[in-house]
Amino acid sequence: MDLFEYRQGRLYCEQVPVADIARRYGTPLFIYSAGTLRNHFRRLAEAFAPLKPLICYSVKVCSNVHILELLREEGSGFDLVSGGELYRVIEAGGDPGTCCYAGVAKTDAEIRFALEKGIRMFNVESEAELQNLARLAADMGRRPRAALRVNPDVDPKTHRYIATGRKETKFGVDLARAERVFREFAASPAAAHVALTAIHIHIGSQITTVEPYVEAVNKVLGLVRSLRAAGLEITAVDFGGGFAADYEAGQALDAGVFAEALVPLLRNENLEIIMEPGRFIAGNSGILVTEVQYIKAGGDRTFVLCDSGMHHLIRPALYGSYHHIWPVDPGAKFSPRQRTRDEVFKGMELVDVVGPICESTDFFAKDRHLPPVKRGDLLAVFSAGAYGMTMASEYNSFPRPPEILVEGAEVRLIRRRGTYADLVAPEKDV
Ligand SMILES: Cc1ncc(COP(=O)(O)O)c(C=O)c1O
Repeated sequence: MDLFEYRQGRLYCEQVPVADIARRYGTPLFIYSAGTLRNHFRRLAEAFAPLKPLICYSVKVCSNVHILELLREEGSGFDLVSGGELYRVIEAGGDPGTCCYAGVAKTDAEIRFALEKGIRMFNVESEAELQNLARLAADMGRRPRAALRVNPDVDPKTHRYIATGRKETKFGVDLARAERVFREFAASPAAAHVALTAIHIHIGSQITTVEPYVEAVNKVLGLVRSLRAAGLEITAVDFGGGFAADYEAGQALDAGVFAEALVPLLRNENLEIIMEPGRFIAGNSGILVTEVQYIKAGGDRTFVLCDSGMHHLIRPALYGSYHHIWPVDPGAKFSPRQRTRDEVFKGMELVDVVGPICESTDFFAKDRHLPPVKRGDLLAVFSAGAYGMTMASEYNSFPRPPEILVEGAEVRLIRRRGTYADLVAPEKDV
């Protein structure tokens, strides 16, 4: 699953005790395991090897340039949703020619930037965007390649806020309209400025079953056949991201299970295959470490008040997501064997783990069994590598935490802790 593990009652990231890192860099802080990032990327690459896919890591998930650099070294391309993400990839030494750019409301400035850098493919989300891309490409004398993002109307059976492939969401163009868009575009003068030769889908995130993918890919292949029969050239399918991470042990499927279902469907279709995993690679590759400030009784509840909260990891507040939480140094008596909410030891207490932010939604966990903790103890919030730091804010004027990358016994600071001066710098530089 990952390279965070308890040995003799102490949490290690690869070969380094987490408490040592926290002592050196302070709390709160994000710690990532390079070995876990690499292992997860390789598991996907090996499982899908028969399709020779371009794996475009989804930058929004965890976008530190050092992590992008590590994944580039592994052979990854990148899935983007903004000009800022393209800038990050370039800063990380990434090749724009390996980047696919989705996003429902790309601005002219962002499109021009991506055209200028020569990205691999625009994943276009509407007819209006397609016309705009053609206009800007004509202006700049380019002919970019584009995929139309199609909304296959499948239920990915995940939280409704992270389901993107249903008809009622803002993403993509529904199947029936998609066929019309391809045909009309091919017959229009704008086709001289954009090569619309691919289909993109991304049906949602934290998907724990293969059936929604099979259903969506079959629908897309139906569209490919029908467009090809009409004489249109379709060369690529990008089936997006969405493979689940293991927030609780045993929740996620192995990459091999997805590959077993999808490789036979796609392998003989003469298509270039692109995929855009994010959470599967980064989710379990990072933890957030926070220090307990106070314990407080309120009504019938016990609150564990921490120096980190929804401003650093907003997923529990936003989606009610489960993150496993455990003391960094629980001692042998409370050394956990697995990361599930069912592992209950004698002497554990039922608590709410909350942060310092002035919002009632500022919690990491409610009604959670934890070993007894006291002021000064460190807690690890697991599976914080995806949609953690990238969704963090400076709300309530708390500077952003630092990020640390561990590889074996090597510990590297890859983003320094924010400062009070950072909080006001853009307001002074006016
Ligand atoms: C277009 C696109 N591709 C890929 C992803 C990555 O999804 P995941 O992290 O679930 O793999 C997202 C996430 O929202 C997305 O919007």
